[in-house]
Amino acid sequence: MNDFIVDDITALLKSAVDISEDEIRKNLELPKVKEHGDFAFPTFFLAKTRRMAPPKIAQEVYSQIEDRLPFGCIESAETAGAYINFRLSSQVLSEKLLSEIYTRGEDFGFSDEGKGRNITIDLSSPNIAKPFHVGHLRSTVVGSCLYRLYEKLGYNCIGINHLGDWGTQFGKLIVAFKKFGTEKIFEKEPIYALLDLYIRFHKEAVGDSSLEDQAREEFKKLERGDPEATEIWKRFYEYSLEEYKRIYSILNATIDEYTGESFYNDKMDDALALLEEKGLTEISRDALIVDLEEYGLGAALLKKSDEATLYLTRDLAAILYRKKSYDFAKMLYVVGSAQALHFKQLFKIIELLGFEWYKDCHHIEFGWIKFGKEMMSTREGNIVFLNDVINRAGELAKEIIIEKNPDIDDIDQAALHIGVGAVIYADLAVRRNHDINFSWEDALNFDGNTGPYLQYTHARLASLERKFGKEITADIDFALLKEPEEKQLMLTLYRFPQKLGQAADEYEPAVICSYLYELSQNLNSFYQKHRVITDDTELTNARILLMRCVRIVMKEGLKILGLEPMERM
Ligand code: ARG
Repeated sequence: MNDFIVDDITALLKSAVDISEDEIRKNLELPKVKEHGDFAFPTFFLAKTRRMAPPKIAQEVYSQIEDRLPFGCIESAETAGAYINFRLSSQVLSEKLLSEIYTRGEDFGFSDEGKGRNITIDLSSPNIAKPFHVGHLRSTVVGSCLYRLYEKLGYNCIGINHLGDWGTQFGKLIVAFKKFGTEKIFEKEPIYALLDLYIRFHKEAVGDSSLEDQAREEFKKLERGDPEATEIWKRFYEYSLEEYKRIYSILNATIDEYTGESFYNDKMDDALALLEEKGLTEISRDALIVDLEEYGLGAALLKKSDEATLYLTRDLAAILYRKKSYDFAKMLYVVGSAQALHFKQLFKIIELLGFEWYKDCHHIEFGWIKFGKEMMSTREGNIVFLNDVINRAGELAKEIIIEKNPDIDDIDQAALHIGVGAVIYADLAVRRNHDINFSWEDALNFDGNTGPYLQYTHARLASLERKFGKEITADIDFALLKEPEEKQLMLTLYRFPQKLGQAADEYEPAVICSYLYELSQNLNSFYQKHRVITDDTELTNARILLMRCVRIVMKEGLKILGLEPMERM
């Protein structure tokens, strides 16, 4: 990573304080007040060992480095209370940083931290028959963002769609199809036809309790591999998959494998045998469970009294299978918070099996997403269909484009990119543990902290380059980039790799969103005071290089989030 600033400050301090380089690095921070400098070193943590008041320590350390300044990219330093504040040289900063970004291009921020290591990411995972719900939207976009982020850190990622394609609901669908369905219903939008069958089943079952028994029977047949049941199931599966894939391509979803719950049908026995071998299972009220009461996790149910397996049983088979197939360094489950207990049970069982790698498994939780009434489906009260959301996003974005820039080449394509960008961003910008109150107005506001705003920032940079019309080079006079707004932009650019690392450590796309938003705002402050293309050729060359570097980072950031970096808007 291009840590040259931190390297310089560390080298300088190392000569004055007797602590490890790591400790110095760990303690460096950004000053709370910009006027105080560009980097700060607080001395509080030294007070105990040195038995001295922090301001005094700061003074003392400062007196030892004073004579060595300027040093590397550090122009000057001063003390303020317990802090030593460093001011960087714009010239050294620009020369080192912009050259690096320019040469590395889209690789800037890339590290090989994860080289040779696998991360499996369980994402999206909708339930067949119930249509792609907006709850799965958040899993899809958060999971895909983490996927791209970890790839950027050098990991090999495997995106796994753990489709809900197994379980008693298929028994219900098969019964409903045999009783009320015809071939005709699948002619268009088969996925909605499946939902209708599912709803119909539940309606009819109110008056006819035998339906539930029939459904269980059908599912059992399916589990046994009965040809007729399997054939119907397969068709439902394929209809659904086709629709999902259409949506995934719109959302830039990163899915490598569709190994849903059905995939583990023949792998559960081995998993259960392993548990039994380790003496973890017991029979309670005719059901097979793992008693996790002493860990505050209740009883983990693995087989019902009628021998039917459960969601947890399949997840157990899946986690063992994935470890065996991928030997993952991390296994991430991007699933709503409502399933917290489920994953705690799952990981606990892995721990009880004696596998140390339970520590590598993480439930990446997220809150609810609430759409306004207008998006609620009339079919079933409270479901919001992703498809409707995407269509609406495109329509609204189109209205805005027609108003702002009607000459744009392919309006429909642009509208889709912007509309979908708005939805994805609204989903990622809110920290995972918070619920989202989705509002179209907020999401599509071209001036707020939104996807379209960032896409617009990128388009503006692209248009600037077109206007410049010549090749941009790094062969410039770096001393010309000396305005405070330019320095601020560079300091923000410098933090990109570190922000990627932070987002990955916290599994938190919102970190990237706020970073890009900050970069956009820095850019705006710059635009307000300065012009890029002027009669001054040297200055123009210098500034356009800076703009190019901002664009590189903005583009990479948008791509990691899954947003199209627009060339024109
Ligand atoms: N299909 C599940 C649901 O919609 C999500 C599956 C998440 N992944 C997993 N391995 N359990 O609730």
